[in-house]
Amino acid sequence: MALVYKTRVEEAAAYIRSKVQSIPPTAIVLGTGLDALLSSVTILTEIPFQDIPHFPVSTVQSHRGSLVVGTIDSQTVLLLRGRVHLYEGYDAKMVTLPVRALGLCGVQTWVLTNACGAMNPEYRSGDIVLLKDHINMMGHNPLEGPNEDAWGPRFPDMSDPYSSNLRSMARQAANEVSIPLHEGVYVAVVGPNLETRAEYTMLRLLGADVVGMSTVPEVLAARHMGMNVIAFSVVTDECFPDELKAISLEEVLRAAEKASPKLIRLIKCILPRL
Ligand code: HPA
Repeated sequence: MALVYKTRVEEAAAYIRSKVQSIPPTAIVLGTGLDALLSSVTILTEIPFQDIPHFPVSTVQSHRGSLVVGTIDSQTVLLLRGRVHLYEGYDAKMVTLPVRALGLCGVQTWVLTNACGAMNPEYRSGDIVLLKDHINMMGHNPLEGPNEDAWGPRFPDMSDPYSSNLRSMARQAANEVSIPLHEGVYVAVVGPNLETRAEYTMLRLLGADVVGMSTVPEVLAARHMGMNVIAFSVVTDECFPDELKAISLEEVLRAAEKASPKLIRLIKCILPRL
């Protein structure tokens, strides 16, 4: 562990602690197009990422960055508006600096959201997928380098990265509010290009249901520190090689925004059960 990284994480954590009286145990990462959850939040504190020492700031316009403390149905949570990605040029350690810093602040559970493309032929644009496992095809890992033993083990277990207890709770909640929910495997790629037909064929053959450019680094860092993770992907494009259509960022955003009321209802339903 490069000393400088550990110091950066600790300085970020100290700054957050100085601004937030009591750190809620649950943090939600709002992925592409899912900002709408904020309309259900009574904001108590909002800190722009650029004010937090060493926090990476997104270079992508669709991801405005700030750390929000707010209440949803009287439950206080942390929300990360936007995240940074490997494709922006940040390394995996910087991508996960917010997870590390908030881990030091006492966050115990992460609710991660993202936009994804679907290779599973039963999935459709606008569907929600509860992640049950992942494949890291990024070629990068936030745990590379000397291990910080105080944070977690050298060889963290990944037999249950997306807590099976939280998943069964989420399935039950989805059932109660009649929200259809797939459960699938996410493969993470660096991007930023979308995949070729041949790549979608390969990723499907490898056992993935959906593909995206985020989330896995955060999961690895969170699990390393012993935090719990639950993750939801919104399908924004159908990646069936024989019927592949060109897709724009606008279409991805539109699909994510269209699905967001469903995901918001589901998240509001699971939060009290976390
Ligand atoms: N590929 C990779 N990442 C994505 C996609 C995709 O098709 N859609 C949304 N994020």
